[in-house]
Amino acid sequence: MSLFRLDSSIRGQGSVSREVADTVQRAYTEQHPHATVVRRDLGTDPVPADAWSTAALAGFTPEDRRSDAQWAARALAAELADEILGADAALIAAPLYNFGVPHHLKAWIDLLITDPRFAPGNTPLAGRPVTLVVARGGGYGAGTPREGWDHATPYLVRILADVWGADVTVVAAELTLADVTPAMEGLRPAAAESKARAHELAEETGKALGSRAAA
Ligand SMILES: Cc1cc2nc3c(=O)[nH]c(=O)nc-3n(C[C@H](O)[C@H](O)[C@H](O)COP(=O)(O)O)c2cc1C
Repeated sequence: MSLFRLDSSIRGQGSVSREVADTVQRAYTEQHPHATVVRRDLGTDPVPADAWSTAALAGFTPEDRRSDAQWAARALAAELADEILGADAALIAAPLYNFGVPHHLKAWIDLLITDPRFAPGNTPLAGRPVTLVVARGGGYGAGTPREGWDHATPYLVRILADVWGADVTVVAAELTLADVTPAMEGLRPAAAESKARAHELAEETGKALGSRAAA
C-alpha cells in the first residue's frame, strides 16, 4: 500500500500546507508503518513551464512526426500518471495564490491530462481517497467580504472529484497571514483556531486512511 504526496507551496520554512500535510502523513504512517510514501514537490521541483503545451501539441501530431521534445513531454506526463496511479491514496497540499491555484499545480494537472489515462471521459482515480490540504492567507467563510474569492479549492475539487472520480476530503487552514500582518492582528485567535481544526481533521483523515490501507 502506498501514499502519493504532492506539495506545491513555494515556501519550505513556515508553510502551513506542508505542516498540515505532515500531520496527515504522520497519522497515516503511524497506522501503517510499512506503507511506502512517494513524494513530489512542485514548489522546489516544478514541472517545466512548456511541458504542457509541448505534450498537448504532440497529441495533434502523428507519432512518426513528433519531435524529441514532444516525446519527452509525453514521457513526463506518463511518469506523473504512473506516480499517482501507483498509489492507493493521495495527499495534495495547495496554498491559495492570487485567489487561484498555484501555477505549478495547474501545470501538473494540465500535463497529467495529456496522458491518455487522464484524458477527458476517463475517471482514473475512481473511488480513490484524496486528501486535499488547502492553506489560505485570508478568510473566505460564508458572509465574509471575500466569500467566493477562493477560486482554487472549488477548481481542485472539480478536477479531483468530478473529473477524475476521487473521493476527496478537504482540510483547510485559513487566515494564515494573520500572524505576520499587523492589520489582521484581531484575527489571530480565529487563525489559531482554524489551524488547530485543520490539524485535527488532518489527524483524523490520516488515521482513517492508514488503518484502511493496513487492513
Ligand atoms: C505570491 C502569493 C500570493 C498569495 N495570494 C493570496 C491570495 O490571493 N489570497 C490569500 O488569501 N492568500 C494569499 N497568499 C497567502 C497564502 O495563501 C498563505 O500564506 C498560505 O499559508 C500559503 O501556503 P503555505 O503556508 O503552505 O506556504 C499569497 C501568498 C503568496 C506568497
